Amino acid sequence: MRIIVCPDYNAMSRQAANVIAAQVIMKPDCVLGLATGSTPVGAYQQLAKWQQQGDVTFKDVRTVNLDEYRGLPGTHDQSYRYFMNTNLFDHIDIDKANTYVPNGMAEDVDAECAAYDERIQEFGGIDLQLLGIGHDGHIGFNEPADHFSCGTNCVELTDMTIDANARFFANRDDVPRQALTMGMQAIMQAKAVLMVVSGADKAEIIRKSFCGPITPEVPASILQLHPNVTLVGDEAALAGLKEEGLV
Ligand code: F6R
Repeated sequence: MRIIVCPDYNAMSRQAANVIAAQVIMKPDCVLGLATGSTPVGAYQQLAKWQQQGDVTFKDVRTVNLDEYRGLPGTHDQSYRYFMNTNLFDHIDIDKANTYVPNGMAEDVDAECAAYDERIQEFGGIDLQLLGIGHDGHIGFNEPADHFSCGTNCVELTDMTIDANARFFANRDDVPRQALTMGMQAIMQAKAVLMVVSGADKAEIIRKSFCGPITPEVPASILQLHPNVTLVGDEAALAGLKEEGLV
C-alpha cells in the first residue's frame, strides 16, 4: 500500500486528483469507479479545473459509481446521481451517457443490482476505484456485518450512517433507510484503489482498517488484501497510522 500524507484537505484533494488524472491520461478510455460524500469534492473540483484548462480530457472515460439511495430519483438534490452531476459531470467534458450510478428507483432491485455488476464485467472491470470511508469502516454502503458482501446489493443503512448523512437532509427522518451499493467483489477486482480521507474523526477507523484484523466488522479492512491501494489523507486522518509506525 502507498500512503501519501498531506498537510491539509486542499493538499489531499490535489494529490488525489493527480492520481485520478494520471490514470485518465495513461488510459483515456479507462473505467473510473467513483464515490460521493464530502471527502472527494475537492478532488473533483481540481479535476474540473484541469479539464477546463485542457490538461486532461474525460471524453472517452466511463464511470461507475459506488452507490445510490433507494427511493431517490436522480433529480432529487440528495441523490448520488445529482451529486455526481453537480460536483463533477456538469463541469467536465465527459459524455453523461457513459456515467453510471445504480438506479435507486428500480422496481426490481435484484435485477438492477445484477445488471450493474454485468455492466462492470462487460467494461472489463474498474481501472481505478475511488473510495471514501465511513466512521464505522464502510466503503460504498457496505456496512459492518458478519460477512463481506459480494455483488451489488441493497443494504439497510446503520444508525451511524443515517446520523452521519442526516446533515444533508432537512430532517433525520428524510434520510433513506436503504441504499444500493457495489459489493466487495467489484471493489476488490478493481485494478487500483484510491482511498481519500480527511479529518481527525477518521483517524481511529483508518488505524483499525489498515492495522487491525481483516474482518467484515470493519469492511474497509478487506483492502489489506488488495495488491494496489493508494491511501491519500491529511495528517489528522493518518495520525493513527503514524502511531503504528506505518508512515
Ligand atoms: C459514498 C460512499 C461512502 C462515503 C463515506 C464517507 O459514495 O460510498 O462510503 O465515501 O460515507 O463519506 P464522507 O466523505 O462524506 O465522510
